[in-house]
Amino acid sequence: METEKLKQLAAERAVEEVEPGTIVGLGTGSTIYYALLKLGEKVREGLNIIGIPTSKQTEEIAVQQGISLSTLGEHPVIDMTIDGADEVNPTLNLIKGAGGALVREKIIAHASKRLVIIADEGKLVEQLGSNFPVPVEVVPFGWGATQLALNRICRSSTLRPDFVSDNGNYILDCGFDGIPDPSTTESLINNLPGVVENGLFINRTDQVIIGAASGIQILKRQG
Ligand code: A5P
Repeated sequence: METEKLKQLAAERAVEEVEPGTIVGLGTGSTIYYALLKLGEKVREGLNIIGIPTSKQTEEIAVQQGISLSTLGEHPVIDMTIDGADEVNPTLNLIKGAGGALVREKIIAHASKRLVIIADEGKLVEQLGSNFPVPVEVVPFGWGATQLALNRICRSSTLRPDFVSDNGNYILDCGFDGIPDPSTTESLINNLPGVVENGLFINRTDQVIIGAASGIQILKRQG
């Protein structure tokens, strides 16, 4: 089955878990796109939810779909967030942020009672940092100095070209040859002055819904 179909399968399965009358965090990316289409369909059929978008891109799509939106200021506690990922490891830790929305995504994940990740099976890895770099959002002031410091943690980093985040910041994509201790790496990166946030999402995910050629796989957080 083609990847787009697998993304759609996972997205539509996640939308089945959305309860009426709840506050729903809306992630960013090409997989979430299918969830937004399905949610829009359900809203038009009468589902009553309030969405909190993680990016301007998602906000635009949600508005087109007729999904009512609000802000984290109005609703600081979110019932369930659906979001995508670039890599998912066996303990449901993630790399996110290829779409550049990692700061708002992490804030919204932290404010959520439940984080449900949707992905195609190509996103599964044994060790984080195997296929994707870790995106690190940095303030523009002194970004070159921040990069030098980051390069002592990762193998190498590159400034994402022609990119400014929804928060007005830059992204440095940090390559690793695998990340054996992602929790420590997440903290080390975030301790550097100039770093706003990084794309390692550790111990945040409650459930991962994988679209696979063999069907849907559901992975749940242990303990
Ligand atoms: C957005 O910043 C990202 O965290 C996305 O959620 C992640 O990159 C997955 O995107 P796709 O669903 O487009 O692969």
